[in-house]
Amino acid sequence: MGKQRVLSGVQPTGNLHLGNYLGAIRNWVEAQSQYDNFFCVVDLHAITVPHNPATLKSDTYKIAALYLACGIDLEYSTIFVQSHVSAHSELTWLLNCITPLNWLERMIQFKEKAIKQGENVSVGLLDYPVLMAADILLYDADKVPVGEDQKQHLELTRDIAVRINDQFGNPEKPVLKLPEPIIRKEGARVMSLTDGTKKMSKSEPSEMSRLNLLDSPEEIQKKIKRCKTDPLKGLEFDNPQRPECNNLLTLYTLLSDKKKEEVALECQDMGWGQFKPLLTETAITALKPIQTKYQQVMQDKGYLESVLREGRQQAEAIANETLARVKKALGYSLPS
Ligand code: TRP
Repeated sequence: MGKQRVLSGVQPTGNLHLGNYLGAIRNWVEAQSQYDNFFCVVDLHAITVPHNPATLKSDTYKIAALYLACGIDLEYSTIFVQSHVSAHSELTWLLNCITPLNWLERMIQFKEKAIKQGENVSVGLLDYPVLMAADILLYDADKVPVGEDQKQHLELTRDIAVRINDQFGNPEKPVLKLPEPIIRKEGARVMSLTDGTKKMSKSEPSEMSRLNLLDSPEEIQKKIKRCKTDPLKGLEFDNPQRPECNNLLTLYTLLSDKKKEEVALECQDMGWGQFKPLLTETAITALKPIQTKYQQVMQDKGYLESVLREGRQQAEAIANETLARVKKALGYSLPS
């Protein structure tokens, strides 16, 4: 038996922050040798809200380079750009025509994003989850590692696959494979530096709310120095009155690779004046190898291009086969 297949993706919107890394990419890296992995930069999703054409390409390359810098290993994993594989758009259209509109209208993330967009809501924003379903189903993915916020989109993906199979497949030979989500644990959720009850997020206007993977030591120091804390001495996990305290200890735990119990003991008598420099040092040290590798990759554009070219070929080989299978099931003639 071959390895199970994993597929996941990140949008090329600006910098990756520690939440993206600790909550997603680091877990992909840790598990990658067990699976056959496909990691894409989902640049078609990036235009579901107004975007800047002047930076789309460089933002896309940046995420691909960060995948490599974070330790995605081409021996186990394929890195590619969603828009390079046209099967993603094409399967989306086919899935669109069998997906009931009301399935999309009830997506929580759509409703939240639509409110933020005001008047300017595109059909693409509503269709976002169908494109995501196409990303996953094209590769017959067994497992899809995502955050809690993507759970509903995974359920939709399964519902769409079931519908295609019911309407166009036969029970012995389903057209599409049903993927399983790997939902990461709550503990790995990284919260904002300025509000310990909110997720660390790219869309939060204040840069002070997040640590980016490419922040300089000076920026890291400044952000941690000014981050929100509380007036209490003695640091502790899991006190609902102290969300910032829990978040900063969690960050320290993840970045230092220590055990939670160990950190609880180490920090139980500390004040913020002692803890903040410790967290700063730990963050700078943990990010340094990623930043060094990133600079190396970015200095060799030819190498990055070749990684993405090869990734595209590997992705296409699988995606085009699945697309042909779906078209055939739907009754299309295939070009000979
Ligand atoms: N919607 C995902 C997110 O914002 C990104 C994404 C797009 C994705 N296509 C995917 C994740 C396919 C997993 C699988 O996090």
